[in-house]
Amino acid sequence: MRRPPIVQKFAGLLMWLALATACTDRMAPSDDRWGGSGELIAMSGGEGGARYACVSCHGARGEGNGFDAPRLAGLPAGYLQKQMEDYAAGLRPHEVMGDVARFLDSHERVQVAGYYAALPPRAMPPASREAIAAATPALYVRACQQCHGADGAGTELGPPLNAQPAFYLAQQLQDWQVAKRRNDGGHAMLKVAQQLKPGEVHQLSLYLAQIPPPPASAAR
Ligand code: HEC
Ligand code: HEC
Repeated sequence: MRRPPIVQKFAGLLMWLALATACTDRMAPSDDRWGGSGELIAMSGGEGGARYACVSCHGARGEGNGFDAPRLAGLPAGYLQKQMEDYAAGLRPHEVMGDVARFLDSHERVQVAGYYAALPPRAMPPASREAIAAATPALYVRACQQCHGADGAGTELGPPLNAQPAFYLAQQLQDWQVAKRRNDGGHAMLKVAQQLKPGEVHQLSLYLAQIPPPPASAAR
């Protein structure tokens, strides 16, 4: 069927507009200004610019800020990448990290995850030395260890929790308690967290925060 020329012109314009927005919206990985480097994304924030530079919140060496921004250094690459996808998709709602993740394309998320996973695990010293439980709480052994491992070092079933800021850990558990964070596939964390009393959230978070990160040689 032949369409009148004006319609053809209009359709052409629409297609051009669609292509143009697709191109400005996301850079093709090939014209990636950052030379394919996760480190450059960490330093510069990628397309989002300096205010999204990972180092400004997660520390120069991925050690975290000891408060609300967790350590990234030495966490499993697959876990880090999944979190970036979940922030971008809103399954793990967080204003800043949502923006950070959406400014990166999936290729860049893989690169920056790989960069942090390869850094030697390192953490801010725990903010407070009070109330440190030297012995592993029985609750941790019973309710958490099967997935998060002895000393919170992580297993195939759950990420490392050791040497994360206590505030950050408690925040995550509270987010699951109200089903704000809901990115755990089988809802294991949702169920676990909803059974914890406030005092237990506090105790577990302080316990995990004071465990030093594993030596660099143990990094995956
Ligand atoms: C303005 C501060 C800020 C910047 C910039 C920032 N982050 Fe974050 N990030 C945070 C905070 C705060 C959290 C904790 C959010 C929450 O409670 O879910 C977080 C959480 C994360 C997590 C989840 C880690 C875990 O253990 O589950 C990852 C992964 C992450 N950030 C990666 C990055 C990367 C990669 C960049 C740079 C491209 C970046 N962040 C830039 C503040 C920031
Ligand atoms: C059946 C396995 C399982 C059990 C049991 C479990 N977890 Fe988890 N946990 C997970 C998984 C899987 C994730 C990562 C979910 C995701 O992809 O974001 C997680 C994530 C977490 C996080 C967030 C880590 C981060 O870096 O953001 C915290 C905190 C946590 N768990 C604490 C606990 C505590 C405390 C217990 C015990 C009371 C516990 N978990 C029991 C599987 C488990």
